[in-house]
Amino acid sequence: MCGIIGYCGKQAAAPITFEALKRVEYRGYDSAGIAVLSNGQLLVKKDIGKLDEIEAKHSLSSLPGNIAIGHTRWATHGGVTSANAHPQYDSSETVAVVHNGIIDNYQELRKQLASNGHHFASETDTEVIPHLIEDEMKQGLSLEAAVLATAPKLEGSSTFLAISSLDPGKVVGTRKGSPLAIGIGDHGYFAASDALAFSGQAHQVIPLADTEVVILTADGIEFLDAAGNKLAKESRDIKSKWHDSHKQGYQFFMLKEIMEQPQMLEAAATQDRELFTKIALDILRAGQVIVTACGTSRYAALVGRYLFSKVGKKFCDVVMASEFHYFADSVDKNTVVLAVSQSGETADVIEGVQMARDAGAQIVSIINRPQSLLSEMSDHVIYLNCGYEISVPATKSFLSQLVIFYLLSFSMVNSFDEAVNNLKGISNEVTKAIAWNNEPLRKLSQSLKDKDDFYYIARGINFAIASEGALKLKEVSYIHAEGMPAGELKHGTLALIEPGTPVAVICPDDYTYRETLSNAIEAKSRGAYIIGVSDKKNDIYDFWVKIPKVDELLYPIITVVPLQLLAYHLAVSRGHDPDRPRNLAKSVTVK
Ligand code: M6R
Repeated sequence: MCGIIGYCGKQAAAPITFEALKRVEYRGYDSAGIAVLSNGQLLVKKDIGKLDEIEAKHSLSSLPGNIAIGHTRWATHGGVTSANAHPQYDSSETVAVVHNGIIDNYQELRKQLASNGHHFASETDTEVIPHLIEDEMKQGLSLEAAVLATAPKLEGSSTFLAISSLDPGKVVGTRKGSPLAIGIGDHGYFAASDALAFSGQAHQVIPLADTEVVILTADGIEFLDAAGNKLAKESRDIKSKWHDSHKQGYQFFMLKEIMEQPQMLEAAATQDRELFTKIALDILRAGQVIVTACGTSRYAALVGRYLFSKVGKKFCDVVMASEFHYFADSVDKNTVVLAVSQSGETADVIEGVQMARDAGAQIVSIINRPQSLLSEMSDHVIYLNCGYEISVPATKSFLSQLVIFYLLSFSMVNSFDEAVNNLKGISNEVTKAIAWNNEPLRKLSQSLKDKDDFYYIARGINFAIASEGALKLKEVSYIHAEGMPAGELKHGTLALIEPGTPVAVICPDDYTYRETLSNAIEAKSRGAYIIGVSDKKNDIYDFWVKIPKVDELLYPIITVVPLQLLAYHLAVSRGHDPDRPRNLAKSVTVK
């Protein structure tokens, strides 16, 4: 988590850095700051709050100078305070650092530095970095030499950028764990956690590898390996532009991304038949298949598990990525691990995949963001092709993941083309599910916005949609919600149903219909307010969310959409920003 930016060039650095920070604010938004070098002087402004709030208070973008580093924070070590916001600096206020990662040995380093006379102003792990650099620079080292000397002392993940008034005219960065992309523009050079930050400003990008160091000056960029030797690195053109990511008239990215889903489905289904056939064969031949993912991506995997079983007659297990390493003992070279991650950066997924790779497993990743850490670790990568997903709640990436699992399961029975064909009409059906329900769900959210608890139930292939509906609601509206298999309700949770408790029943007219309905009636008999998501009207529904009829294996792609809209409208009607829910971040790069 956390977004870091550096700029060195011919233009005023602070406004460029501020704009770039806004584009990576999805990585963390509890505090932010910018440090600049102007006439050899180091100036820092930072505070708690979202970027626009800090800008209104401190005019971050008015800082002078052509060199800047910036940070937007998701707190790990130390509370959300101005002192803990980045940039962090050393005792003599000559070195400023922005950091993404966690320094596992920061307590030892802090003790050593304190015993040598360093004073600490924050509770962060990051603060040891400028102090260590300060010590090196006092010995006469250049900023890059000091960074090279400091980086190996930091255990854990440490991607950071530094500037110093003792060696002005440059930004120096290094990467360990979290990503760092270097951008080449017409008026200057950039470093950022995500190339999205400088797309539109830069036309070429170069990803930095672990332990490499980059030096940005107004005249160029230089790369060094961990031993300080110069490196030649290749750049590639930046194709996507930031303007792709504007809200286009929607109040929030979440709604824009929900509305984009019909178009995205076609892009997700445009895949390489050969690759899918090869992966499908490997899955069928594998001794065991494990899918690993977190959050929404894991719910897509749970739908995938039903598809693999129903279509491909192949059982696979879905293991929560944060629990994966407890199963690592059983992973071997006969294992295929499917890693599902929108960002391709999620630390829990990366850790599990690393273990599986070390054990000789084949790794297949299903990712949205290109050039991610996960893609570098995989034997095969399948891309979702759904474009930037800016809002923290995953929506369009989820639908695209469902499409990928659908294609993979049909590829197991050599029917990739049939699957593509089946998916052809699905965009229209998603459009209908949106058009029929958006306004009615907005109105419903007004009457349900003060409820404390929601429950979501479904069976079979739709069960994970119940869990996903509940996750979406919790995430953006802060209402407690639980999703579960409908048959499980009577084994405990039914005790929580009171008159008026909303229970969303995902009940398409498929092989799960009768039994799910019967579970809904059990809840209704205890006074539940039933929201029926179905293509078939039923008197027990207090509110009917009408969905179009589709093939039973495609219902998850349809049923989830009204639940996304319900969560969105509840968030907005409760006065929350669904794009930046409290305590969360889009890319969870810590364990
Ligand atoms: O980038 P990933 O798909 O690996 O992210 C996994 C989860 O952090 C993510 O799906 C999270 O649960 C979403 N914010 C849910 O909307």
